[in-house]
Amino acid sequence: MSDPIDDLLDAAESGKSIIKNRDILHFTYIPDTILHRKNEQEQVTQSLLPILKQSRPSNLLVYGKPGTGKTLVVKKVLSKIQERVERSNFPIKLVYSNSKNETTLYGLLVSLGRQLGLEQDELPSNGLAISEVFKRLLSKIEGGKLNAIFVIDEIDYLAQLVVKTGKDILYQLTRANEQLKQGSLTMVGISNDLTFKEKLDPRVISSLGEEEIVFTNYNVEQIKKILEERINESFIENSIEEPALNLCAALAGGEHGDARRAIDLLRVSGELAERQQSDKVTIEHVREASLKIEENKEEASLKSYPLHEKLVIIAIMKVNGSSTGEIYSSYKNLCKALGKDELTQRRITQMLSEIELSGIISGRLVHQGIHGRTKKYKLAISSEMIKKSFKDDLSLQDIV
Ligand SMILES: Nc1ncnc2c1ncn2[C@@H]1O[C@H](COP(=O)(O)OP(=O)(O)OP(=O)(O)O)[C@@H](O)[C@H]1O
Ligand SMILES: [Mg+2]
Repeated sequence: MSDPIDDLLDAAESGKSIIKNRDILHFTYIPDTILHRKNEQEQVTQSLLPILKQSRPSNLLVYGKPGTGKTLVVKKVLSKIQERVERSNFPIKLVYSNSKNETTLYGLLVSLGRQLGLEQDELPSNGLAISEVFKRLLSKIEGGKLNAIFVIDEIDYLAQLVVKTGKDILYQLTRANEQLKQGSLTMVGISNDLTFKEKLDPRVISSLGEEEIVFTNYNVEQIKKILEERINESFIENSIEEPALNLCAALAGGEHGDARRAIDLLRVSGELAERQQSDKVTIEHVREASLKIEENKEEASLKSYPLHEKLVIIAIMKVNGSSTGEIYSSYKNLCKALGKDELTQRRITQMLSEIELSGIISGRLVHQGIHGRTKKYKLAISSEMIKKSFKDDLSLQDIV
C-alpha cells in the first residue's frame, strides 16, 4: 500500500517544479528593473540629491495606494545613494524603518538609533523616556556631524503609535533639524493611506510635506508587463498560459492597480499548479488562487478581532438575519455562557456598524410601521469560515 507521506515526498523529488526561484516572488525582493516608474524614481532621487553635496534635502512625503511601488522605488534610490556614500566616505546615514513592524514608538526610535550606530549601552532597548531616546538620536547626529535621512515607511502606523503615547514625536522629528547645531536630519514618510494627511496636525503636515510625490495606480497593461518581467526570472519557460497571465493582471490591475496583489496571485497560482503536478499555470489555477487569497484575508481579519467583536459575529451566526435587538440578546447569552461581562447595547450597535465596514456582515434597514426602523444583519461570509477562524481560540471553543 502506498504511504501518503512518501507519495508526496516522491512527487516533490521527481515532480515538476515550474517555479525556478521562489525568492523572486517574495514581496521584499528588489527587481533589477523598475517598470513604469521613471518619473517617480527621478523625483525621489532629485529630492534626496542634496545629501551627496552634504547639504540637507527637504523633508519628503511619498503617497500612493498599496502596491504602487513606493517602498520599492525609495529603497532602490537609497541603495544607489548608499553605494556612492561608501565610495566617498561622506558622513551620510540612510536609515530605513517600517512602522508597521514596530509595536511601540520606543521600538521604532531604537531601530532608527541602531542604524545610526548607537549600541545597546548608548541606547538601551527599553527603560528610557521617549524624550531621552530622542535626545540621544540627535546627539549622535551632532557628534558625528552626520547628514541623516530617516525613512519611515507606513508612517500612518507611527501616527497610531503616537496617539497611544500622546507624544508629539512626529512634529519633533520633522522639526529636529532646527535643533541641530551640526549635521542634519531629513525625514521621508511613506503612506498608502490617502486620508492620512487629514488626520495630522497641520504643523506636522507643513514640515513633513515640504515636498510631496504621489504614486498613481498601475493599469492592467502595466501590471501585465510587471508580471512578465517577474515570470521570466522566477518561472521556467512557457509555464504560464497566456490567459492565466491576463487574468492575473486583470484581477489585480482592474480593481486596485496593485502590483503586490498581482505578484501574490502569480505565486499562489504557481504553487497550486505545482501541487497538482501540472506543468503549466492555467486560468483555473488563477481563479482558485484568487479565492484562496480572499479566504486567507477573511480568516486573518476574523482572527484579529478582539473578544467582544468575535462574540458579536458568533451571535449573528446564531441568529443570522436578525435585528440589532435580537443580536444583542444572542450576544448576551454568549457572554453569560463564558462568564464575561457584557457591553451595552449602544456599544454593540456601534460595533455592528464597524464590523459591517469590514464586509464580514451586511446590514439592511427595515421599516416596522409604527415601531420605527431597525437594522437587520446577516453574515456576508460562510459560517464555516467563522468556525474555522475561531476554532483555535480556546475561550470560544465551547460556543462555536
Ligand atoms: N514598477 C514595478 N516594477 C516591478 N515590480 C514592482 C513595481 N512596482 C511594484 N512592484 C512590486 O510589487 C510589490 C509591491 O510594491 P511596493 O512594496 O513597492 O508597494 P508599496 O507602494 O510600497 O505598497 P504599500 O503601500 O502597500 O506598502 C513588490 O513586490 C514590488 O517589487
Ligand atoms: Mg510599502
